[in-house]
Amino acid sequence: MSQTNQMSYSSSSSLDSSSETSAEKTVLVTGGAGFIGGHTAMALLERGDKVVVIDELNDYYDVNMKQDNLQLLHQFKDRFFFIKEIYVMLRSSIRYSYLTI
Ligand SMILES: NC(=O)c1ccc[n+]([C@@H]2O[C@H](COP(=O)([O-])OP(=O)(O)OC[C@H]3O[C@@H](n4cnc5c(N)ncnc54)[C@H](O)[C@@H]3O)[C@@H](O)[C@H]2O)c1
Repeated sequence: MSQTNQMSYSSSSSLDSSSETSAEKTVLVTGGAGFIGGHTAMALLERGDKVVVIDELNDYYDVNMKQDNLQLLHQFKDRFFFIKEIYVMLRSSIRYSYLTI
């Protein structure tokens, strides 16, 4: 995989904070050491949220790039938390019932 997966963050891409007050939010970002998750986590931290990242740090590409992404996020010491773990999402099925009158 190319070097483009490494996070190079520009504050101009921050999430919009004008439309809501987000200071008290805590957001869980799965895959947050990767490209999209890392940028998402950074934008959330920059607007004042607390962020919990869960990432298994798999070796699909160079793990050092993910460590570098996490290093950038760790500058938000009091609001950033990293858990090295595999995230599993369980989906419950939704049943529809039709009422005939
Ligand atoms: N990057 C793009 O341009 C792009 C475009 C469209 C869709 N997507 C999709 O968005 C998703 C994220 O893309 P990306 O570029 O950030 O990928 P990425 O590989 O950089 O990041 C994904 C991260 O998720 C972690 N991960 C994967 N499975 C996990 C699990 N079960 N538990 C914990 N951590 C786990 C990996 O270790 C990795 O750090 C992918 O599904 C990708 O197919 C990406």
